[in-house]
Amino acid sequence: MKKLIVLTGAGISAESGISTFRDAGGLWDEYPVMEVASHDGFMRNPALVHSFYNQRRKELLSCRPNAAHLGLKELEKWYDVHIITQNVDDLHEKAGSANVLHLHGELMKVRSMRDESRVYTLTPDNLETSPETRDKYGDPVRPHIVFFQEPVPNITAAAELVKQADILVVIGTSLVVYPAAGLLYYARRGTPIYYIDPKPAEIDMPNLTVIPEKATEGVARLITLLQNP
Ligand code: OAD
Repeated sequence: MKKLIVLTGAGISAESGISTFRDAGGLWDEYPVMEVASHDGFMRNPALVHSFYNQRRKELLSCRPNAAHLGLKELEKWYDVHIITQNVDDLHEKAGSANVLHLHGELMKVRSMRDESRVYTLTPDNLETSPETRDKYGDPVRPHIVFFQEPVPNITAAAELVKQADILVVIGTSLVVYPAAGLLYYARRGTPIYYIDPKPAEIDMPNLTVIPEKATEGVARLITLLQNP
């Protein structure tokens, strides 16, 4: 089976009701990003950061995967699909995708601040954390999110996947946050690249097909294009 590698961003979850970050009215218009999503911000005011992610978790509970997430699952019938997502939601997993690599962490998880290998999944009836929350060892926990100013542990694995791509698909990302945005450049020469986004970033790469549509329509078109090249 050919390897189809997908890089997704906030745009794929927009039609599920999750705000993107940088569109007009996006999350970073409403909240100062360096206060709620940076390492320094967390050190300065952990209560604010916990409450920001508590709110995001509550919103996620009412969201369902959309036709774009489900379409990527369907592509597993014909391709060895691996999804690299910048999203912290769990909608790819809820759609049933088998291989999902989270670059920027996972909203429904927290981890010990003493031992970062201790990661805990929150349940819908126990979503809230605060600076006072303790794990079973008595240690404080933090959101399992990659804050700005922190390294991206999964970037090496993601680059390896992109190197192996027979086809690369990019969906719903402004491609401004590095190192994720640099992943495209690991594709082997000649790899076909499809980029689905109603307002695509300007990228200059050979073999690029831009599909300037919303994720749900764009993934449907992608499936047609792949079946009738
Ligand atoms: P952005 O908010 O920067 O970009 C969202 C992209 O989605 C834009 O290019 C939009 O045009 C596009 N978009 C909007 N609606 C869409 C739809 N219905 N279908 C498809 N695309 C649509 O989000 P990201 O690129 O994901 O990191 O942002 C990257 C990172 O910046 C995030 O992972 C997050 C943020 O800070 C952390 O919080 C660590």
